[in-house]
Amino acid sequence: MNVIFETERLQFRTFTLEDAPLIYDLNLDPDVIRYTCDPVKDIGHARDILEQVILPQYVLYNHGRWAIYLKPQSEFIGWCGLKYIPQRDEIDLGYRFKKQYWGKGYATEAAYASIQYGFNKLNLHRIIGRAMPENKASLHVLKKCGMNFITEEVIDGHPVKTYEIFNPSIP
Ligand SMILES: CC(C)(COP(=O)(O)OP(=O)(O)OC[C@H]1O[C@@H](n2cnc3c(N)ncnc32)[C@H](O)[C@@H]1OP(=O)(O)O)[C@@H](O)C(=O)NCCC(=O)NCCS
Repeated sequence: MNVIFETERLQFRTFTLEDAPLIYDLNLDPDVIRYTCDPVKDIGHARDILEQVILPQYVLYNHGRWAIYLKPQSEFIGWCGLKYIPQRDEIDLGYRFKKQYWGKGYATEAAYASIQYGFNKLNLHRIIGRAMPENKASLHVLKKCGMNFITEEVIDGHPVKTYEIFNPSIP
């Protein structure tokens, strides 16, 4: 586990294969996966997600979904970060937090910091974010991070609202 960067209240670390129980526990709560539609069957499934989806992104693209720890106690509260989607050649902002940590501004703090890291450290040109129309909290986070609505579309069989933000330093 490497610390990638920090904000005032949060620490961003890379996940490791040993973190499968964290992913499993987070997805156990039906409220957490209500609008993400991706239940995790067991610890083995969580390990597969880490091995096949999350960890390769760190190596291939130098970014990914990062484990978020609350300072100063270093408590795992969820994940946030960037994910390259090759099918659409897009970099997607995503986040997911344990329910007891909702409503404290952590998602907005983490999402905004992920965008800034993507623009300032990785020199990314554009970042997108998607959420189901019913997922008001998530849509609100995208807007509060300065993202602009571009379209409603169907992705993987689900209607979503898509937002984007461009790196102001790249003309
Ligand atoms: C989406 C999620 C990350 C938001 O986390 P959070 O910690 O509550 O987010 P924040 O506290 O930073 O901000 C949420 C904002 O949405 C607002 N909000 C929350 N529920 C809302 C609702 N039902 N309608 C409108 N606004 C809502 C909050 O008031 C807050 O705005 P404010 O700061 O202006 O008051 C969290 O709900 C979550 O993990 N959900 C499950 C996973 C998920 O759906 N991820 C996104 C997939 S697209």
